[in-house]
Formats: sequence, C-alpha cells, structure tokens
Amino acid sequence: MKAQRPIGVLFVCLGNICRSPIAEGAFLQAAEAAGVATRFRVDSAGVSDFHEGDPPDNRAVAAAAARGFDISRQVCRPVRPADFTAFDYILAMDQANLAALTRLRPANATAWTALVLEAAEGRHEEVHDPYTGTARDFEVVVDKLQRASRELVSRLLAGHGSAIRRI
Ligand code: 4NP
Repeated sequence: MKAQRPIGVLFVCLGNICRSPIAEGAFLQAAEAAGVATRFRVDSAGVSDFHEGDPPDNRAVAAAAARGFDISRQVCRPVRPADFTAFDYILAMDQANLAALTRLRPANATAWTALVLEAAEGRHEEVHDPYTGTARDFEVVVDKLQRASRELVSRLLAGHGSAIRRI
C-alpha cells in the first residue's frame, strides 16, 4: 500500500512563544496517545518575528511539563509564505492572528485557515494571550488546547480530504 502523505498542521499565535508552542506540543501528545503521530507533520509559528530564534516562554514550558509534554526544545519562527502551501491546515489562536494570516496569505495558498477551537470543537472561541497574565492563565491555555487536540486529531483524520470544509 502506498504510504499516506502526512497531514500538515501549523499552529499560529502572535509571538510563537506561548500559545502556539503549547498547541503544537498538546497536539503531538494527543496524536501519540492515539497512536497516530506519524500521520501528522506539526509545527508552530508567529505572525510576528518579535521572538525569532527564541525558545518558548518559561511559563509555557512549565505549564506544559505539568501536563506531561515537553516544549522546551522548540524554536520560535515567523509564518512564511511557503507555509501556505506546505501545510494543509493553519490554525490560529485568536481573531487577530487569523486577520494577520489573511494579510500574509499568498495568491497560490492552498492551506485551510481557521481558529483552532473552531476547527477542533466548532466553537467560535479564542485562546486568549497569556503573555501578560499569571501562571493560572497559562494553565487555562494548556487545558483548552489539550481538550481541543483530542478532538482535532480525530476530526483531521476523519475529515482530511473530502470533508475538509467541515472545519
Ligand atoms: P503568544 O504570546 O502570541 O501566545 O506567543 C505573546 C508573546 C509575546 C508577545 C505577545 C504575545 N509580545 O508582545 O512579545
């Protein structure tokens, strides 16, 4: 049987040091738990280049570690035009990220862009920026993204291709 091409998923936030690194780690954790990690190619990026080359925020690393996944080795990068053809899904944390993606989107883009919680759970809801918040705000981000990731793994496996418009 021909090997299936992995489904490309890029998680996006403003800085790529808090929410989208957590989203990437939580999604990989959920895919590994379901035994389907090899079906996906996952990455994260920021709509800004404020933190390019930096590791994730220490508070994000700690909140992820407390929930059993390691994001300490990720390296921050900005969204690039090539991402819009290299990934199948580009999933934003909030409306401002989604608006920025619309501005960055090249004419030849093929990726489907959406809010991550909408893609995962059909809820038009944002993952709020915890950057100026407390450790508790980071926990809330991890909670939301772990729950969303479990849904997203099965939705993307079921819907990739013909049912892409469902998300
Ligand atoms: P993120 O959080 O978008 O979840 O990575 C932020 C990180 C950095 C900044 C803003 C939000 N900043 O302004 O540097």
